[in-house]
Amino acid sequence: MEETNLLQELDDLRQQIHYHNYNYHVLDAPVISDVEYDRLMARLKEIEAAHPEWLTPDSPSQRVGSTISERFPKVQHPGAVLSLGNGFSTDDVRLWYERLVRLDERVEQTNFVVEPKIDGLTVVLHYQDGIFVQGATRGNGIIGEDITPNLRTIRALPLRIPVDRHGPRPPHRLVVRGEAFMFIKDFEELNQRLEKAGGRAYQNPRNTAAGSLRQLDPNLTSERPLTLLTYAIVASSDPLPPTQRALLDFLKASGFPISSDVETCQNIDAVIEVCETWQDRRDRLAYEADGVVIKINNLDLQADLGVVGKDPRGAIALKFPAREVTTQLKDIGVNVGRTGVLTPYAILDPVLISGVIVKQATLHNFDYIDEKDIRIGDRVLVKRSGDVIPYVIGPIKEIRTGAERKFERPQVCPACAQPVEQVVGEVYLFCVNAACPAQLIRNLEHFVSRGAMEIDGLGIRIVEQLAAGSIVKDLADLYTLQKDDLLKLEGFAVKKADNLLKAISASKQRPLARVINALGIRGVGEGMAQNLTAFYHDLDQLKRAPVNELLLIEGIGPNIAEGIVDWFTRPANQQVLEKLRAAGVWPVIAAADQKQAAGDALNGQTFVITGTLPNYSREGIKEFIQSYGGKITDSVSKKTSYVVEGEAPGSKIDKARELGVPVLDEAGLLKLIGPK
Ligand code: IVH
Repeated sequence: MEETNLLQELDDLRQQIHYHNYNYHVLDAPVISDVEYDRLMARLKEIEAAHPEWLTPDSPSQRVGSTISERFPKVQHPGAVLSLGNGFSTDDVRLWYERLVRLDERVEQTNFVVEPKIDGLTVVLHYQDGIFVQGATRGNGIIGEDITPNLRTIRALPLRIPVDRHGPRPPHRLVVRGEAFMFIKDFEELNQRLEKAGGRAYQNPRNTAAGSLRQLDPNLTSERPLTLLTYAIVASSDPLPPTQRALLDFLKASGFPISSDVETCQNIDAVIEVCETWQDRRDRLAYEADGVVIKINNLDLQADLGVVGKDPRGAIALKFPAREVTTQLKDIGVNVGRTGVLTPYAILDPVLISGVIVKQATLHNFDYIDEKDIRIGDRVLVKRSGDVIPYVIGPIKEIRTGAERKFERPQVCPACAQPVEQVVGEVYLFCVNAACPAQLIRNLEHFVSRGAMEIDGLGIRIVEQLAAGSIVKDLADLYTLQKDDLLKLEGFAVKKADNLLKAISASKQRPLARVINALGIRGVGEGMAQNLTAFYHDLDQLKRAPVNELLLIEGIGPNIAEGIVDWFTRPANQQVLEKLRAAGVWPVIAAADQKQAAGDALNGQTFVITGTLPNYSREGIKEFIQSYGGKITDSVSKKTSYVVEGEAPGSKIDKARELGVPVLDEAGLLKLIGPK
């Protein structure tokens, strides 16, 4: 490449890296993935290595960390808070080792420590005579931000180094380095809480942890489930332990949390073996790690090996393959789900994410597209973690060309062209056409599946043909299929048709819970269907259930209760029910089995009812309590287990109080029998 072009590239790279540093460290809102950042940095260093005359002190390669935010007081670190050089494959690790051996032959004799590289925010913690006195962010590696009040809210952070009367005193001065982060589970719970409260979910644990620590109000920080792991000592008034392993043990003995996933390896081959095990282990960690750190165990040797730029020679980070990448959003497609819900999905320029080619990713719902301002043609950040479906994190707005276009919400269902509806208070759009082929295919697929009617031999290809040829127009039509209908389908001979008809016929015997599940009512899966059968003994009873009665059942909230009632009031569904009844698909829980179906949660317990209950008549509640093995008596005595109180209770309540018999309302009674 010509020198002028190379200079131009160098300048571009520096500007880009400055910009991404600012996004990452100051705004806590990166727009590119770590791997892409590393790639930019690697290219910058490559050019600078070939042309040392072009090196300038303000090049991002010459700095540790980032711009310092103006919002917090500054702290000068007692020693440079260094970064780490990166490797991307085990070959890089071997090359690192070989370079070190050439530099210092003692490297051949040393062992190594391999630690997870926690994806959080570096914190520098100062202790004076064992007391936590100050804590800072890394900042630019020389000067950080004083976030002491925020750090104090982290429960895992020792505010005082425990003193053992017989043990050594803590150093007069100790400065410990660690990583503050959130456990994935805590992060997910935080997001659920936020969403429930109508707030917006956070993108990932790392940015959330970083953002939480850089709140000006420590009360806000204290509401975030932050935690800490430590792994280095920046300064100490006492001599340091001789090895990294001993240093970790010292930290632990001093009350600092350390990772339990640290391994000591005798030589570089063992290091590489351990690194390879991390490909799988990574997904089992309770927190996000973006790689492993390999450190020379002997700390004197590490120090003697020195530093290149901001990276100590004696340690290297082996980065895990990317799980976040950017690619182009070619188009937005719309899926029609089993319950008619329309969901948008991203059609992507195929891209490799941790070994898997990703062509599509979820966009959650239409509001998400608006909120994130995602446009067709955008370069988008895509994430895949564990086995979850990849999703679009958001667009990189800064590199828009102007050719991107906004996505229009569909007015009609993409499968049947009928107008769509938006349910008030919900983010989803629905196709409410019961005859919509997309819905029918998914409904049929669910209907015949394992936990539902379990019709063997009725796979998706057959379902599609039956729906496409209008041979089956609703779920119940399966039961009137004739051999001739099947013989018209691809790949069907007499034997196969007979077998399928037999399987369909056998499914008529499925128990009530399976049939309820098979209907595909929104929010009613296998477990919920089972709960419903404790109260309703056939579909006629369920069909008549009012919302307030359904609400009494464990796990049913207003949306599901209304969904159930709504399903049964739709004429198309009523028709399906009648056809199922006519076909003999109408399981009833026989009276003799009802007790068994209901359970024995109230066995041996005696109840007295007083007042009018909201949902049950006297007779109804008696039957109900008996169906769970309980007994009803008229008067309260010491032997009474519970008094159930309705509206306008009588003197039985006073008696209960007098004798200390617990009093429940109707909902409290239902809780006694609720699923465990
Ligand atoms: S050692 C000289 N060990 O990774 C010591 N760093 O890319 C250099 N990090 O910002 C750091 N886990 O905060 C080290 N077990 C670990 C780490 C770790 C996470 C972070 C560190 C630094 C970044 C370097």
